Amino acid sequence: MTDVKLGVNVDHVATVREARGIDVPDPVAAASIVERNGADLITIHRRLDQRHITDRDLEILRRTVKTPLNLELAVNPEIIDKALQVGPDKVTLVPENRQEVTTEGGLDVKKAQEKIVAAVEKFQSRGIEVALFIDPDSKQLEASRQTGARAVELHTGDYAETEPASVERSQALERLAKAAQTGEELGLEICAGHGLNYRNVKPVARLAQVVELNIGHAIVARAVMVGIGKATRQMKQLIQEATE
Ligand code: PXP
Repeated sequence: MTDVKLGVNVDHVATVREARGIDVPDPVAAASIVERNGADLITIHRRLDQRHITDRDLEILRRTVKTPLNLELAVNPEIIDKALQVGPDKVTLVPENRQEVTTEGGLDVKKAQEKIVAAVEKFQSRGIEVALFIDPDSKQLEASRQTGARAVELHTGDYAETEPASVERSQALERLAKAAQTGEELGLEICAGHGLNYRNVKPVARLAQVVELNIGHAIVARAVMVGIGKATRQMKQLIQEATE
């Protein structure tokens, strides 16, 4: 069995920072910690409004990350130029709607074919790997292959939203399995992500064709819960020391 790589998405460390508008917690520091704890790549989404990851983060991460840096971005000229300037190891093209809380669906590759083909060409000609974030659908896979991209990231959101052990979950997993197989037959590298967590990740990680999973919210959420006890003890200790 081949190892499935884990891309840790550190966007939501920046979300917490931006909620206060100060400089902590820093996604750059978080990236370094997750790398030292087994992450195989660092994934970030530089949104058009920089609502979490900012250009400062992107530029420093480019210099400091030791594993491959995977930048998720919209097919938008401004952000494509920024990405080409910074030079991540990999880009994942995603749809982006300004109002959405998180990426809502996969790219409609056929609809945006011309723009996607041009972006894929720009990145791949500079040795930057490109994945297209798509729903697990054979039409999207076929359209993806026609863009020249060598990889896709299958959107696991529908699967993740189903009830555990439900018929809907089995059907969603079956759709992912079928898409992974079709994608491989088309010569595409298969990555997957969105909504994966500690309870639902295993069946997706077991899909034979999947080589990489990108996971963010669940890891940041778990980090808060496993860390908040220690953080409280450290603060309590300081207060006690001050009043001794
Ligand atoms: N993959 C892609 C393409 C995404 O847009 C996101 C969310 O930024 C993720 C993976 C990670 O999703 P989650 O935070 O739900 O784990």
